[in-house]
Amino acid sequence: MTPAEQSAAALSVCRLAPVVPVLVIEDLAHAAPLAQALVAGGLPALEVTLRTPCALDAIRAMAAVPGGVVGAGTLLTPADVKAAKAAGATFGVSPGATERLLDACAEHDLPLLPGAVTASEIMALLEKGYNVLKFFPAEQSGGAAFLKSIGSPIPQVKFCPTGGIGIRNAGDYLSQKNILCVGGSWVAPKDAMARGDWAAITALAAEAAKLPRAA
Ligand code: 3PG
Repeated sequence: MTPAEQSAAALSVCRLAPVVPVLVIEDLAHAAPLAQALVAGGLPALEVTLRTPCALDAIRAMAAVPGGVVGAGTLLTPADVKAAKAAGATFGVSPGATERLLDACAEHDLPLLPGAVTASEIMALLEKGYNVLKFFPAEQSGGAAFLKSIGSPIPQVKFCPTGGIGIRNAGDYLSQKNILCVGGSWVAPKDAMARGDWAAITALAAEAAKLPRAA
């Protein structure tokens, strides 16, 4: 899958809703009800981070939930890409980008949302054909103001910022023309998951799904 094809697929994912939940799943039993709760609230695109032992099994369980579009986050190595694809992930997200990671996504046909923070990193990915990027860690890297500024010289690149974004500041990002959606963990709080309070998660998702966006 070429970088341009990967970005076209990533664009479709990013257009599904204003927020992509970033999920850290500690208990496999949470995977399916969590996905159901988020989809019911209007957030179909879900990023499961490969940071816990059950993450790949969680992707498998969530991929079976009707309406869910499940991707794998925290892809760092070619082995992560292969495992994510085998588990049923339909897109991938990485905090940065390495040649080996990009090659693996091309080889395994996994549309990647690669991370970039500086103008040179953005330009390097654009040169390869990627025009839909993750911006991480967003708040610590200049936030919405940085992305607004980079949109002047490089308007053809669109972003999904993540890191430090919540309901209080998501609107600052989503009002920018070069921001398709934002990623965040706030819609799936650890305590609500631990309690099995799926209704609370659906309510947070519904609030996030209503956020207006400019892009
Ligand atoms: C991450 O990869 O951890 C995401 O950027 C989520 O960040 P958040 O927990 O600040 O929403």
